[in-house]
Amino acid sequence: MEKPIDFDLIRNARFPEGVLGTQMIEGMNRSHARLTEWGFSHISEFGQTVLDVGCGGGAALKKLAERFPNAQLFGCDVSPLAIQSAEELNAENVSAGKMSFHCGGVSKLPFPNGFFDSVFSVESLYFWPDPEKDLAEILRVLKPGGRFMTVLEMVGGSMSERHAEIARRLEMFCPAPEELRELLTRSGFSVTALTHDTQNGWLCGVGEKRA
Ligand SMILES: C[S@@+](CC[C@H](N)C(=O)[O-])C[C@H]1O[C@@H](n2cnc3c(N)ncnc32)[C@H](O)[C@@H]1O
Repeated sequence: MEKPIDFDLIRNARFPEGVLGTQMIEGMNRSHARLTEWGFSHISEFGQTVLDVGCGGGAALKKLAERFPNAQLFGCDVSPLAIQSAEELNAENVSAGKMSFHCGGVSKLPFPNGFFDSVFSVESLYFWPDPEKDLAEILRVLKPGGRFMTVLEMVGGSMSERHAEIARRLEMFCPAPEELRELLTRSGFSVTALTHDTQNGWLCGVGEKRA
């Protein structure tokens, strides 16, 4: 039988804090690894400057640093605990000046226009205050021709009852594939990929900033 949903723990997916937040961050670092790799497989070139929005405990950036030791990697997240955990996990890269973190939300990114070659986000879009405007903010910090990739495993229209209950209780925005395409388009992106892996229940959208 499936375990009952532990909402005290699960709400830390939106804003990790305290002991349960640490538990959630460690769990996400492990359990999002395959989904993250799948998302990465949609990006042919990351470039030199890369931002992870809603970086949580920083496992995705650690992987990227291993693959691209010369890239400048950045992470941002609203949760101070997430940022602290990401900095600890990536301590070597942070002290080598290859990676840095910012505690703050997607709605106001502390970077100049056209700074990043690529931006990605794993399992975070659900919680953004205004997805259309927030995606436009990501567009702002991308270079012309730069790409944004997002992956989600709670997909509107095809969720399990368990996921649907979590989405309701946490007031999550879980777009269906076509809804994600429209959202990216409305925010100003040219959608270059939209993949729905129905076996795993994963959704990946990639948008390009027009040159
Ligand atoms: C489900 S976790 C995913 C974390 C990480 N990307 C991973 O895959 O392990 C969602 C993350 O988004 C962050 N988040 C929520 N709202 C945010 C916002 N408005 N701007 C940036 N990050 C946000 C949360 O603090 C949390 O760390």
